[in-house]
Amino acid sequence: MSLPGSPHIAYRGRDLFIEDIALADLARRFGTPLYAYSRAAMLAALAGYQRALAGREHLICYAMKANSNLAVLQTFARAGCGFDIVSGGELERVLAAGGDAAKVVFSGVGKTRAEMARALQAGVACFNVESEGELELLSQVALQLGRTARISLRVNPDVDAKTHPYISTGLKGNKFGVAHETALAVYRRAAALPGIEVAGIDCHIGSQITETGPYLDALDRVLDLVEAVESHGIALQHLDLGGGLGITYTDEQPPDAEALVRAMLARIDARGHGQRKILLEPGRSLVGNAGVLLAEVLYLKPGGSKSFCVVDAAMNDLMRPAMYEAWMGIVPCTQRDEPAQTFDVVGPVCESGDWLGRERHLAVRPGDTLAVLSAGAYGMSMASNYNTRGRAAEVLVSGSEAWMIRERETAAELFRGERLLPG
Ligand code: LLP
Repeated sequence: MSLPGSPHIAYRGRDLFIEDIALADLARRFGTPLYAYSRAAMLAALAGYQRALAGREHLICYAMKANSNLAVLQTFARAGCGFDIVSGGELERVLAAGGDAAKVVFSGVGKTRAEMARALQAGVACFNVESEGELELLSQVALQLGRTARISLRVNPDVDAKTHPYISTGLKGNKFGVAHETALAVYRRAAALPGIEVAGIDCHIGSQITETGPYLDALDRVLDLVEAVESHGIALQHLDLGGGLGITYTDEQPPDAEALVRAMLARIDARGHGQRKILLEPGRSLVGNAGVLLAEVLYLKPGGSKSFCVVDAAMNDLMRPAMYEAWMGIVPCTQRDEPAQTFDVVGPVCESGDWLGRERHLAVRPGDTLAVLSAGAYGMSMASNYNTRGRAAEVLVSGSEAWMIRERETAAELFRGERLLPG
């Protein structure tokens, strides 16, 4: 039986498998909490984008904030991807994973002088500039280094991506991007700055988007701007259309990547912009349904109004339920032939907000392993050490092979940089 999202994570009989390995075996081998990712699922998700873009000049820049493990980056780099980064730290990860800086776009509203300098020295492809202040500083930093910074402006198209307010970024009133009305003036300023070379235009309207409409609306607004900017003699070579495509956590039915990109390309062609290089910045849709978080059931706590299933993974391991009230599937790694009961699945952290799932019907006993589904994106990458909990280990699976790609953190590692006072 396959579960929402990925054919690579599915039951065979009573046991839940990731590719050809039973997840319960992985938990025994590597311990819990444990993130496990399917390489085939990641590459299959990428292939949808690649098929749609075949035959066109393009670059798929994996938005690595979704999952920045070096082995995950290496997987995408080997498959030809570039990367969308939002910090100097992410750039160092790309380089450590063998990624090519010349395929990196640098996004984010708060790039520091030091981050700009390092990215210029590494030779990133493009800075996605989000404000006029940033543009001026970038020009200065580039001049000091004797370089030119290639830029696109991230424009805010003011369309509603119809997603959670915390992950909607393309509306007026968001901190992101340059307002549509002022973009032309900022492009003219950019074209006049000595350290800047205008390369393209960029927009990203939000995350976990499940409809095609907002993408096409944003695209139309972007193409309007492209035409206005070019009528002032400023050439834009590439269109960076951002990321944001949603995945199935429960019953969402997002368009598949191939269909979405084909629809966007058709609009681009229809408006006579078919010659432009296309950049995309998908994150969640490449890794989300490729991963699970495994947790061991510690205790069952029956209660009057609620019963709790206490597991060894917590909000520090997977923040999405606590932060966005996100619903993520939770299933046993080995099914029991017993009646299910209703539980809130909670972690050991000292916060009432520390829950992974509410009112879940589960037939479980202490010692069983549960899998939180669709946890490949914004799971480990948002993990913290709250309550001095070491972060989980991670494994990458391909067929019947499993590689540990991050060791479990030890307590000593957590306070390694701290110092006692003298005396
Ligand atoms: N490009 C830019 C400029 C972005 O800000 C983002 C995500 C992406 C690309 C990739 O978006 P994706 O394809 O993954 O939707 N922590 C939240 C999601 C935050 C997304 C932030 N920006 C969550 O767990 O739902």
